Amino acid sequence: MGVWKVSGGRKLYGDIRIQGSKNAVLPIMAAAIIAGCETELLNCPQLSDVEAAMAILRHLGCKAERDGDTVSIDSRGMNRTDIPHDLMREMRSSVIFLGAILARAHKAELSYPGGCELGARPIDLHLEALRTLGADISEQGGSLNCRDTGLKGARINLAFPSVGATENVMLAACGAAGETVITNAAKEPEIIDLAEFLRKLGASISGEGTSTITISGFTPKEAVGHRVMTDRIVSATALCCTAAAGGSVTLKGVVPAYFETVTAALEAMGCEIERKTNSVKITSEGKLHAPRPIVTRPYPGFPTDAQPLLMAASLKAAGTTVFTENIFENRYRHVAELTRLGADISVVGRVAVVTGVNELFGAPVTATDLRGGAALITAALGAKGLTTVYDTGHIVRGYDDFDKTLLNLGADISFDPETLASVV
Ligand code: UD1
Repeated sequence: MGVWKVSGGRKLYGDIRIQGSKNAVLPIMAAAIIAGCETELLNCPQLSDVEAAMAILRHLGCKAERDGDTVSIDSRGMNRTDIPHDLMREMRSSVIFLGAILARAHKAELSYPGGCELGARPIDLHLEALRTLGADISEQGGSLNCRDTGLKGARINLAFPSVGATENVMLAACGAAGETVITNAAKEPEIIDLAEFLRKLGASISGEGTSTITISGFTPKEAVGHRVMTDRIVSATALCCTAAAGGSVTLKGVVPAYFETVTAALEAMGCEIERKTNSVKITSEGKLHAPRPIVTRPYPGFPTDAQPLLMAASLKAAGTTVFTENIFENRYRHVAELTRLGADISVVGRVAVVTGVNELFGAPVTATDLRGGAALITAALGAKGLTTVYDTGHIVRGYDDFDKTLLNLGADISFDPETLASVV
């Protein structure tokens, strides 16, 4: 529970090093149980979701410790196969432990993850695929009971290239005899990072980053080290914040290709972009114009996670910006909050139309979800006066020291994590 205060109107200048990726580190932490070995993960962001994953690992009987940005996991002593409801609820992507626990122990009991603020989060594709590998899964009373009498490799064609389902199958397939081929697999960069980690762990795996991934064997190693990739959505956030506030910021230690759709949209809006092998520099005069329609799609399309952020950067852009959200059914909850700042946005179904306004004005607003919350801060940086963002803990799920990073770039921002925000 916390309160963010942003006084807009200050331009951002400087260099930032982007944190490790939340969406990469969480499945990698789940994968760390498969081999029953010691794992050292570098570049782990300090986020509440990572703490939640560490709590799950400890519950399972593993050791999980943090020292700065390094998380050490020892899964040799894993002695449980269940994840209780309160731990499942803490972290949206906890269902990713299902494939990993099955691969290691051949049985798992998890509570059903349920929906979230982005709408229903079905896991039918995960379960169907795990059943194809030989898992017997019963769903009753909000819990999933799974066991297998030996997982067997299979051909799995995903009806949709779901990131979570692809990851769950990759993990379970490490405990299966024979070859597993996933077709219509997700191609997101986080899948590539997971495959690289699984390879170090002992998996024979190929095809990651394409729509066909093959896992053909697993010979466990005793100790593994891995550096987690940098976060492409945090990179997109930094670009959008600079676009909205104006100024010039260089993102260091990044893979520019991983968030190119966002960079290209900002360039089309009038920002100046300088791409190098491991850095991207953005310069914004603060006067932007609307880009071509933004349509969210699986990677390499425009990421759904960056939709609220680019919307926040487009609020004062001259002309009309059209967004189509194709991934999640309920991903415009930030719109009502952005309009409190003076934005002109209309939503019909999956389409949101932003008509650029001359000015935004600070106001009290409420973070509705992780990226929606970050979008409010992005917009507030370009608004006149004080914006207060009330947040029940969404933003700290995905951003490590967001306030300090922006403060170092010259923003007027503070975060009080303790304030009891009774209005939320
Ligand atoms: C999604 C994003 C991912 C992002 C993550 C965090 C896509 C394709 N995926 O991954 O890039 O990092 O959110 O915000 O943009 N679905 C089903 N049944 C399933 C699984 C998924 O119907 O079993 C549907 C979902 O309802 C949703 C879509 O598939 O409409 C995307 O799901 P999925 O890729 O699995 O979501 P995440 O793994 O959360």
